[in-house]
Amino acid sequence: MGQGVSIRGAARMWGCSYYTARKRLLAGEIPPAIVEGAEGPQFPDLKEFPKDTDGTWGKLIGFQAELRRWDIQQSAATVDLHNVDGPIGIAIRGDWHLGSESTDYETFKAHLDLIDTTPDLYTAELGDLIDGYVKPNMPTGHHEAMVRVRFQRHLVWDACKRLSGRVLCTVSGQHDHWGVHQADFDPVEWVSHDIEVPYLGHGGLLTLHVGEQTYTMHIRHKGRFRSSANITHGIKQHWRFVEDADIGCHADMHIPAIEHVHWKGEHRLAIRPGSYKPTDDYAQAGDFGTSPAVMPCLILWPDRKRMQAWWTLEEGAEYLRGLRQ
Ligand SMILES: [Fe+2]
Repeated sequence: MGQGVSIRGAARMWGCSYYTARKRLLAGEIPPAIVEGAEGPQFPDLKEFPKDTDGTWGKLIGFQAELRRWDIQQSAATVDLHNVDGPIGIAIRGDWHLGSESTDYETFKAHLDLIDTTPDLYTAELGDLIDGYVKPNMPTGHHEAMVRVRFQRHLVWDACKRLSGRVLCTVSGQHDHWGVHQADFDPVEWVSHDIEVPYLGHGGLLTLHVGEQTYTMHIRHKGRFRSSANITHGIKQHWRFVEDADIGCHADMHIPAIEHVHWKGEHRLAIRPGSYKPTDDYAQAGDFGTSPAVMPCLILWPDRKRMQAWWTLEEGAEYLRGLRQ
């Protein structure tokens, strides 16, 4: 500070607050102790916070804008499929749990191949792609890992690369997000950037332009209002309280469900996928039963607003092939 007095020192001398003292010093006032001679110890080279902090705020605001340029998470995304010449399929998938010793890798790989060999079939990936037990307070998950978490990430990457061109969006599940808790790293965000698809974070709204039609899909891994007694309840309450959509897709429960419903004057679809991990110690301890690798398949028409959903990916792919012949 000028005159060898700190802001705090001046505040003491004037008997005022820190900010009032700073204002008075900036206005050129000199504390009485300096004018009249200070009593007690003086600290002429005491380091202080800056008097003028506008520059700090300006740089902070500017750097925040710069950081946001790197943020690929979006709460809404558009998918443009204007040029399709017939119905399309969208496999509603989630809860891959790659890395667990319990995961059904045979069915998972068969689904990758089926998607790859079925034209006009896309996917929405609803999170928990990795089993990813990296939190120290979940020891049973650690013990049940078939491969270390680094290799689990490699498996997620490879699967997503194989699906490249088919994935319409991704969301992050809590298993993916444990990497954020521990190390600020979400494998789903990273791989979404790599395969260049919208990453919706915990969830978001997808607007699909399919030929002449527009469909909205709300997609989340985990939602509020969920009920084990009514599997699609959380999706419908999401439409009511949070965001409306033609189709709602939530994962996390590992219980597949499809519900066609007339809701707020429109035909809507609520869909939950199963899981490729049928069980683990957590599920057994919690009396969750076993989960089937049922991944429902949505069919959308481009020339009229028509939505259909098949219970399994296999049935949906077969029906889509028939439609497109
Ligand atoms: Fe899961």
